[in-house]
Amino acid sequence: MTEIKLGIAGLGTVAQGVLALIRRNGVLMTQRSGVSLRVVRIASRREKPEVDLMGARFSTDLDDLLNDPDVDVILELIGGEGVALDLIRRALASNTPVVTANKAVLAAHGNELMSGSGKQLLRFEASVAGAIPIIRSISDGLAANRLQSLFGIINGTCNYIFGEMEANGTPFDEVLAEAQRLGYAEADPSFDIDGVDAAHKLTILLALGFTGEYDLSAVHIEGIRHVTVADIQFAKELGYRIKHLGIIQNTDVGVEARVHCALVPSNALLANVNGVMNAVQVISDGAGETLFSGPGAGGEATASAVLSDTLDLGKRMATAADKEDSAAKGDMAEPSVIAPAILPMTDVSSANYLRIPTQDRPGVFAQVTQALSEFSISIDAAIQHEASASQPVVDIVLLTNAVVESAMNAALERLQGLDIVAADIVRLRVAPAL
Ligand code: HSE
Repeated sequence: MTEIKLGIAGLGTVAQGVLALIRRNGVLMTQRSGVSLRVVRIASRREKPEVDLMGARFSTDLDDLLNDPDVDVILELIGGEGVALDLIRRALASNTPVVTANKAVLAAHGNELMSGSGKQLLRFEASVAGAIPIIRSISDGLAANRLQSLFGIINGTCNYIFGEMEANGTPFDEVLAEAQRLGYAEADPSFDIDGVDAAHKLTILLALGFTGEYDLSAVHIEGIRHVTVADIQFAKELGYRIKHLGIIQNTDVGVEARVHCALVPSNALLANVNGVMNAVQVISDGAGETLFSGPGAGGEATASAVLSDTLDLGKRMATAADKEDSAAKGDMAEPSVIAPAILPMTDVSSANYLRIPTQDRPGVFAQVTQALSEFSISIDAAIQHEASASQPVVDIVLLTNAVVESAMNAALERLQGLDIVAADIVRLRVAPAL
C-alpha cells in the first residue's frame, strides 16, 4: 500500500466533494488501487467554510502547498487562469504532480503545460464533462482508433435552459434568472451561455483526439442567447430538438471544430440528453459509435474524476518508486496525432434552419425563395402559420439543403436587407448526421 499525501488548492464545491468522497470511499479506493489518499494541507484564499478538513492543515496562502515537503500531489481546484495557472506552473517546475479540473487553463496554456515534464505530471480528467471519463476514454480506451468525429453536449447550463424553455414555454431570460437563483448558472453566466465554457472543453478534446495542439482560436464559438421559445417549437414541428453542441469532424479537407446551437433529430440519442447532463458521442474507425454520458458538473461528480486521476498518479508513483526511478512519476498519453489543418468556419457545410420574421403581404415568400436561389440554396422544408390581427409579423421557417457557410452568410445578409423582413433572422445549423 502506498500513501499519497495531497495538498488541495481551493475549498469550493469540487474540493468539498473530494473531501466527502475520500471520507466515504477512501478505504474502498485503497482496496481497489493499493493507494491510500491522505489530505495533509488545504489552501484557500477565501474564508474557511465550516467543513471537516480531515485533519489537514489550512492556510490562506497557496505558496504553503508548494513549500510543504509533505505534499506529494497538488489538486488545483480553484479554476480560471491567474493564480491557478501560476500554481500549476510552479508545481510542475518543482516536479510536483498536479491534478486539475481547470479547462480554461488547459485550453489557453495546454501546449506550454503539457510540454516537458507536464506530460507526466499534469492530469485533467475533470476538466471536460465532469464525471464522464472522456479524457481517458479518448487517450487510452480508444487509443487504437482514428477518430472521425465527436459530438458533445458539454455545457449543462445551456442544456438545462433549452429543456426548461421547451417544457414550460418560458422565455430565455426568465429561465436564466431561475437557473441563477437555483445555483445552476453562475452570477456571470456569459462563459456558459456564450459558448466559451464549451469551447474550452472542445479545445481539450480537439487536442487529445484530433490535432495534438491546444488551440482555442481554432474553435468557432457561438452561444445560445438568440434562440427563442418559438424556435424550439418550430424545430419540434420539423422533427428536431435544439441543443448546444461541440462538434469536431475530420474531413478530407481539414478538421472542423465548432461550438454552436444545432438542430438534432428528435430520435437521436443526443437529442434525449436532458437537464444538466452532459454526453459525448465519438465515432472512430475501429470502435464505431461510442456514447458517454453523465453529470457534467457538481461537487462529488467532478471530484470522482479528480480522484480517478489522483489514484492513477498514485499507482504510477508507487511503480516508479518500486523501480527506484523517482523521475518516472507517470506517463499521461500525450496528444500523438499529427496535426491536420483546421478547416476555416467559412468552408464548413451545414443545412440550416432559418426563421425569417416577415410582413404579411403578397409576394413575400417569393422574394425569400428568390434571394436564396441567387446563392444556389435550395429549400428542404418550410412552415408558415396564418397571420392574426394580434400578430401581423409572420415567421417563415425554412430548412435549407447543406450549403457552405460563406454562401449562407452572404444569403443571410441579402435576406436581412429585404424590406419585407421585419426583424432579425434567426439562423441555426442542423447537426451533421449523428
Ligand atoms: N458551467 C459548466 C456547465 C460546468 O454548465 O456545464 C462546469 O464545467
